[in-house]
Amino acid sequence: MKTALKITTLLGSVALVLPATAADFKKDVLPMLESKCMSCHRAPYKTSSGRTKKPKGKLDLSTPAGIKAGGGEGDAVVAKDTSKSLVYSRVTLDKSDDDFMPPEGKADPLTDAELKALKEWIEAGAETGDWKGTKFDAAGKKVSG
Ligand code: HEC
Repeated sequence: MKTALKITTLLGSVALVLPATAADFKKDVLPMLESKCMSCHRAPYKTSSGRTKKPKGKLDLSTPAGIKAGGGEGDAVVAKDTSKSLVYSRVTLDKSDDDFMPPEGKADPLTDAELKALKEWIEAGAETGDWKGTKFDAAGKKVSG
């Protein structure tokens, strides 16, 4: 009995030091994109005053196709290569850099956990699973996704 108890305790601590599994897009990456990026990087929409708003930098991060297409400057996400993925390089610049995302004062910078999840997701192949895109109403409130 005493030995069995010791073994379970040992297994428990081994499980704790095993590397964490790769980030899950819907759980670990999407909520960050929705709350910190999509206010500016989402599909074109009409404001209540009838003006059409286009995604900043021609980059729509609110659909799988938009993420694949990238923006005016090039690839937003290159599977397995964070150094070529603008989405990753822009969030890891020095915070005082003009290119830093999200722009200063507009949304909170990514937390360490969010940066880690973004990196893991890109390195694992940047799959978006069954996500069809996130939709917002004109006021910017999430309606589906
Ligand atoms: C308040 C608005 C705003 C928010 C929020 C925002 N961005 Fe941007 N983003 C811009 C603007 C404006 C540009 C175009 C100017 C530039 O390239 O810096 C841009 C450009 C970009 C580009 C380059 C696109 C291209 O190909 O030219 C990337 C990549 C990017 N943003 C990623 C992000 C990510 C990732 C987030 C969330 C963590 C984010 N942005 C949040 C306004 C925003």
